[in-house]
Amino acid sequence: MTKVLIELKQVSKTYETAAEQVHVLRDLSCNICYGDFLVIAGASGSGKSTLLNIIGCIDKPSSGNIVFAGKDITAVRLEDLNLLRLKNIGYVFQSFNLIPVLSGYENVEFPLLFSSSDKKAIREKAEQMLVRVGLGNRMHYVPARLSGGQRQRVAIARALAGNPLLVIADEPTASLDADTAVSIVQLLKDLNEEYGVTIVLATHDPLIMRYASTKLFLKEGHLVDAH
Ligand SMILES: Nc1ncnc2c1ncn2[C@@H]1O[C@H](COP(=O)(O)OP(=O)(O)O)[C@@H](O)[C@H]1O
Ligand SMILES: [Mg+2]
Repeated sequence: MTKVLIELKQVSKTYETAAEQVHVLRDLSCNICYGDFLVIAGASGSGKSTLLNIIGCIDKPSSGNIVFAGKDITAVRLEDLNLLRLKNIGYVFQSFNLIPVLSGYENVEFPLLFSSSDKKAIREKAEQMLVRVGLGNRMHYVPARLSGGQRQRVAIARALAGNPLLVIADEPTASLDADTAVSIVQLLKDLNEEYGVTIVLATHDPLIMRYASTKLFLKEGHLVDAH
């Protein structure tokens, strides 16, 4: 039987604004297994980012429970959650979220400096990941000197460099042209297979769905099978 990495149990999320309550996720339950390449599709505003932020331990549900690698983390202290994120989860976003004054290499190195003091090992790992994503000859460029696809490759190298169990990718191709989008999803799929890293990707692009090992559709606060 495949081992479960993340278990969502009856997760609900409601945003309270001055004017109204927005019920985004409603009693949603789901298991994500080690090594999955889970693609969550859904219309804009359907709650994909909300769900990914909860799966990625960036946000907490209004009710329900989250179990990560066998541990219920719903009520853990903020410091423990920060440590869990640093050790176990990498993030890739639509707008890359690179630090503009740092080179690609420095962007990848930066989070590693929080979890290790072994400068040589950090350098080797950062360089190895940048070569793996195809940026061996551009790793010392700042993001402004890289194309959108190259910036996303830096972000992917950064997300993978800490050997996470899980990578969260929130619409990683939405800022890219169609060909570049395909090459980025293919890269994520290859890394999923090579490293066994679990990937949860949100998209509203049906073309991206075919790369999924599991496809789900987010609709009216629930996850339903996508075909
Ligand atoms: N911080 C927030 N406060 C209030 N409403 C929010 C907040 N974040 C998201 N929403 C609302 O929740 C719904 C889902 O948003 P989101 O998760 O960003 O969807 P998606 O990523 O699928 O576009 C939308 O109606 C959005 O306006
Ligand atoms: Mg979103």
